[in-house]
Amino acid sequence: MNIIKVKNYDEMSRKAAEMIIEKVRRTPSINLGLATGGTPVGLYGQLVQDHQKNGTSYKKVQTFNLDEYIGLSYDNPNSYRYFMNEQLFNFIDICPGNTHVPLGNTKDPQQECADYEALLKKHGGVDLQILGIGSNGHIGFNEPGTSFQSETHIIELTESTREANARFFNSMDEVPTHAITMGIASIMRSKEILLLISGEKKSDALTQLLQGEVNENFPASILKTHPCVTIIADEAALGKVA
Ligand code: F6R
Repeated sequence: MNIIKVKNYDEMSRKAAEMIIEKVRRTPSINLGLATGGTPVGLYGQLVQDHQKNGTSYKKVQTFNLDEYIGLSYDNPNSYRYFMNEQLFNFIDICPGNTHVPLGNTKDPQQECADYEALLKKHGGVDLQILGIGSNGHIGFNEPGTSFQSETHIIELTESTREANARFFNSMDEVPTHAITMGIASIMRSKEILLLISGEKKSDALTQLLQGEVNENFPASILKTHPCVTIIADEAALGKVA
């Protein structure tokens, strides 16, 4: 894993944006894997700014999001589809039909998982996957204990993940209990992975990732076995790394 050390969140966001913009310009039909949460908000802001200023075009880009809460419809402000529209898709020239997020309010989530995995394969997989990391080492919503062989599946969210995400909801009761997530195997099929880590809250997770063993109890550890992973981490996140 290649590690790029940066000062803070803003520098992480700028560096990540530079890398992505360069790739989109070089390969206009790139398949991007996208994440939600607090980590990539700054990155998406940078991509929007660059699109408006420099005209980087996303017309031929396809995007595949990692995950979606079960039970939330696309127009629910806490759904990841809504988040992506508001943070990125509405402000660049991407074709809405080229943006893919698992359907959260489907009657048959199991079928949605199979369909999403098939869609990924039909498009030849993700070229560059953006990831954040949970304090418990989750990537996507693959919580500790998820099989490294897993493809897109339904996951029951841990209490710690629901608590971490409660900040976006009115109350803890509103935080969904289940989500659809790309599996670990689906993520590992990406040709290249860019993991963003910022802030002291993530320093234990980063230390564990860099110094711990590859183990299903710490899902992100599998990234050590991927041939092309870049981590952009800021000083606060790197604080506890020996
Ligand atoms: C989001 C996702 C999650 C987040 C992780 C970190 O699509 O897949 O794995 O990346 O929970 O979330 P933040 O960035 O809010 O700390």
